[in-house]
Amino acid sequence: WRRSLSSFGFSGQALHSCFFPRTSVCTRPFATSMKEKVVSVLYKGGAAGRENKRILGCVENELGLRSFVESKGAEFVVTSSKDYPNSTLDKHLPDATVVISQPFWPAYITAERVAKAPNLKLAITAGVGSDHVDLAAACEKNITVAEVTGSNVVSVAEHVVMMILSLVRNYLPSHEIATSGGWDIAECASRAYDLEDKHVGTVAVGRIGHRVLKRLVPFDVHLHYFDPFKRLSPEDEKALNVTYHATLESMLAVCDVITINAPLHPMTENLFDSAMIAKCKKGVYIVNTARGKIVNAQAMADAVAAGHVAGYAGDVWFPQPPPKDHPWRTMQWNGMTPHYSGTTLDAQARYAAGTKEILENYFDGKPQRQEYLIVDAGKIVSPAYTKGNTTTGAK
Ligand code: NAI
Repeated sequence: WRRSLSSFGFSGQALHSCFFPRTSVCTRPFATSMKEKVVSVLYKGGAAGRENKRILGCVENELGLRSFVESKGAEFVVTSSKDYPNSTLDKHLPDATVVISQPFWPAYITAERVAKAPNLKLAITAGVGSDHVDLAAACEKNITVAEVTGSNVVSVAEHVVMMILSLVRNYLPSHEIATSGGWDIAECASRAYDLEDKHVGTVAVGRIGHRVLKRLVPFDVHLHYFDPFKRLSPEDEKALNVTYHATLESMLAVCDVITINAPLHPMTENLFDSAMIAKCKKGVYIVNTARGKIVNAQAMADAVAAGHVAGYAGDVWFPQPPPKDHPWRTMQWNGMTPHYSGTTLDAQARYAAGTKEILENYFDGKPQRQEYLIVDAGKIVSPAYTKGNTTTGAK
């Protein structure tokens, strides 16, 4: 398990301090006399960002935080420049006390970057999913890692349902036929099915996975779930008429559609490699809005080319942005988009408000909401990340 964790960025002393918590547990950052410096790495807004002030998550609109941060006497740096090692982020790391980053435009807060940021106290994810931060390094340096848990889970669940329907009904290729002047009904219909009566399974039944199941009930499908750390209550299972699977393999063997909704951690990284994909039913559709690294990119492209997977959709890649020649950009039967399912205008309002709440608690020396905390007082405290590690042997 150490080897698997270290390939994920967990190593040596850092590992020790992660799972064997420090004796002095502090729930909030200690006060410091140095000037606070908040460095926020956001995606470029371009024309859309300049025109639409509701795109809060872009550089132009700064999460709506500038006057608030400056009213606290802190310096506020906002940039989209994140590529290691000569980015604006890297330039400001030595005296940054807070870094804000986003899964959609991830500034990978690696161990090297943590080492370059001796004053860093708080790393905030403006969104959900903090795997772009080296959590072991954050534990080691006693950096609090917090995210706006729950802020965009409805947005993603809706997106998953949209992508399932678009794959099963052959929507995108048919749309392309229409927009390119064609009228080939047989071509559109040759890969179009009803969702009704199909078997649909979620990998993970957390906030998003559970919401996906609820949204699929009216389609009269057979629902399934696999989650090694969570069993729904008997009432919930009955209401959803959902089948629980003790192993992923058991679920893959029966499902026509798989939706992946688990966090990225050592147990889920590369979970869908060629061997696991081969255990899916031939002709399966797979939707992954969780994290790109959960699926082996080339293995998926090969499985689609071979016809074993009938279609793959999602909005998460690795790295982000992906290179122009990433196989998912051009593979057939793909419904990929840039990472935007969790950044609808509604979601942006929620994660911007949550980011402000986290900052306010930090400046005022108040404790953070427990469900927002990923790393606190030198240990990983979020169940989304501790449980995946527990199975690999850590306590
Ligand atoms: P959550 O913390 O509410 O639920 C996670 C669930 O995953 C838990 O039930 C846990 O038991 C389960 N799980 C952990 N390891 C597993 C494994 N090996 N196999 C199966 N299940 C496992 O998290 P939430 O809010 O549902 O989000 C899930 C993930 O979705 C996030 O960690 C993030 O990576 C991704 N996400 C993507 C977004 C997007 O814009 N595409 C936006 C929000 C989240």
